[in-house]
Amino acid sequence: MSADSVESSAPTRIVIAGSERGQLFHELMRTVPQGVEAMPLSDVGERVDIADKTSVNRVLQELEPDAVINAAAWTGVDAAESEPEAARRVNVEGAAQLAAGAEAIGAWFAHVSTDFVFGPGNGSPFATDAATAPMGIYGRTKLDGEIAVRDACPQAAIVRTAWVYSSHGNNFVKTMLRLMNERDEIGVIADQIGSPTWANSLARALWTACSQRASGVFHWTGAGAASWYDFAVAVLEEGQSLGLVSRDVVVKPLSTAEYPTPAARPNYSVMDLVSTRAALNIDPSHWRADLRAMLGELV
Ligand SMILES: NC(=O)c1ccc[n+]([C@@H]2O[C@H](COP(=O)([O-])OP(=O)(O)OC[C@H]3O[C@@H](n4cnc5c(N)ncnc54)[C@H](OP(=O)(O)O)[C@@H]3O)[C@@H](O)[C@H]2O)c1
Repeated sequence: MSADSVESSAPTRIVIAGSERGQLFHELMRTVPQGVEAMPLSDVGERVDIADKTSVNRVLQELEPDAVINAAAWTGVDAAESEPEAARRVNVEGAAQLAAGAEAIGAWFAHVSTDFVFGPGNGSPFATDAATAPMGIYGRTKLDGEIAVRDACPQAAIVRTAWVYSSHGNNFVKTMLRLMNERDEIGVIADQIGSPTWANSLARALWTACSQRASGVFHWTGAGAASWYDFAVAVLEEGQSLGLVSRDVVVKPLSTAEYPTPAARPNYSVMDLVSTRAALNIDPSHWRADLRAMLGELV
C-alpha cells in the first residue's frame, strides 16, 4: 500500500485551483463539507494561472488556507500531442508551483492525476505502486507532475482518477446524449476498458482525504469496469428511461483501429482501489449507479 499515512486535525480553510468551467472544480464547490470554507484560487474574480508562480504565491499568502486542492489541469489528451509545451506548463510546472506554494505556508496539498500514467494494461487492475509507463504526452506530463508535486511537497496526496464525467462541463456522457438525439447510429470503441467516474464521487473522496490530511498515492474511480461501448449503451438505456433520449439509436461496437486518435490510449486501465478504500475508509458506488444519479440531474 502506498498511501503513506492519514492524520486528524481537519483543515477548514481550503483553496481550490481551477475554474468554474472545470468538472471537478464545480463538484468540489458544491460538495463543500459543513464547517469548511472553500475559496477559489482567484484574483479579482479571475482564476489564477497555476503556472504563474508570483500570483500563486501572493494569492496563497493572502488567503492563508490550511489546505490546497489542485483541480486545474490541461486535460486535452489528443491536443497535448501537438501542444506538448502547453500541456507541460500546466500539468508539470503549474502543479509544482502550487505544491511549492502550499508547502511554503504549511498547507495540506492534494493533486489529481490519471490512469494515463500507466501503460496499455494487461487485464489486471493497476495498484497504486504499479509501474508507470505513459503512452502519450498527456500521461507523461501528468506523471512528471506527480513527481514534481512529491518533490515540492513530500506529504501531498496524489489522487489518480479516470474517465471523469459530470452534469457540468464537457465529457463523454454529454457528448453521447447529444449524438443520440441527433443520429440513428453511433460507433463507440469496445476494446478499451476502464472505470467511469462521476466527478461528484471524486470530489467527495477528495474531501475525505482532506479531512484526514491523507498523504501518499490514492486511486479513485467508480466501482466496476466497462468499455466505452458498455458505457455508451448504459447512457442510452438510462437516458431513455429518464426521457433524456427520446428515440431509438443503434450503438455499434468499434475497434480502436477503426477509430484512430492522435494519442494512443490504454486497452485496460482499471485501477485497483483496495489500498485507497482501506486508507480513507470509504467505498465508491458502482459506476452505473453514479451514472444514473448524474443523469437525474439533467432531467
Ligand atoms: N476528465 C477526465 O476524464 C480525467 C481523467 C483522468 C484524470 N483527470 C484529472 O482530473 C482532474 C480534473 O479534471 P476535470 O475533468 O475537472 O478537467 P476539466 O473539466 O477539463 O477542467 C480543467 C480545469 O483546469 C483549469 N485550468 C486549465 N489550465 C489552467 C491554468 N493554467 N491555471 C489554472 N487553471 C487551469 C480549467 O480552467 P479554464 O477552463 O478556465 O481554463 C478548468 O477549470 C485533472 O487533474 C485531470 O488531469 C481527468
